[in-house]
Amino acid sequence: MSRPLATKSDHSKICECPPGLDPRKMPAHIAVIMDGNGRWAKARGLPRIMGHRAGVEALKRTLRLCSDWGIRALTVYAFSTENWSRPSDEVNFLMALFERVLQSELAQLQREKVRMNFFGDLHVLPKRLQDLISESISLTERNSGIHFNVCTNYGGRRELVRVAQKLAERSSRGELDPALIDENVFAAELFTASEVDPDLLIRTSGERRISNFLLWQLAYSEIHISDVLWPDFDSSALVKALLDFQSRCRRFGGLDPVDSDQMAF
Ligand code: IPE
Ligand code: IPE
Ligand code: MG
Repeated sequence: MSRPLATKSDHSKICECPPGLDPRKMPAHIAVIMDGNGRWAKARGLPRIMGHRAGVEALKRTLRLCSDWGIRALTVYAFSTENWSRPSDEVNFLMALFERVLQSELAQLQREKVRMNFFGDLHVLPKRLQDLISESISLTERNSGIHFNVCTNYGGRRELVRVAQKLAERSSRGELDPALIDENVFAAELFTASEVDPDLLIRTSGERRISNFLLWQLAYSEIHISDVLWPDFDSSALVKALLDFQSRCRRFGGLDPVDSDQMAF
């Protein structure tokens, strides 16, 4: 990353939204299922790992664009609880790649005031990666720029089970009356407790499924499926997703304001 990312205080000055996008209707939080690295490599006659390498460049690009365009939080799916079932060579490569990229980018992310977090079962990751993750979280926790959340060994079902366990433990210690457990109490135990729910979910590579991502948090997210393979995801693909988002009418179970002005019967 060569150019500084926007920080909270200067968003209004340098939010360089591309023409056609309404800066007042930008999503506050974007979640991305970064899919298609393997197919990108295969199409070029390359090993799958080359797709993962190229995927890192797409991630850096996307983080910069989101920051420049005033998005407050970007949450990306980097490795699922199910991805351990891949060949060990690929899994080992991915773990080493995460470590290498974090090591090489951390100082720059810090300079650019990115606030990093990692969601998932982190204690089973390689020790050096765990240490780097802890370092990046503590180093950047007071930063005022974009929130950049990386879901690593993350599964939506596992996250919900973890919440159930935490609440059950608090109840059994007599600290929480089960009758008082409501959606707010529950959501406060999610990894995303400090974030608003994603307004927009982007999945690349044309797949039309959630693959165990943010099962609770995506309840009312708008979904954009992009046919672009993740390593090719660029500014025009992001603009397309944002234009799609801005064309939606979000009703949250209610009525479009235009319709609710009229008598229902
Ligand atoms: C997404 O790309 C990256 C990870 C899941 C780690 P894939 O590796 O799933 O790429 P495809 O779906 O095989 O093309
Ligand atoms: C989802 O992609 C997980 C990540 C992007 C990290 P997958 O490639 O693992 O999902 P499926 O297997 O196609 O559902
Ligand atoms: Mg995939």
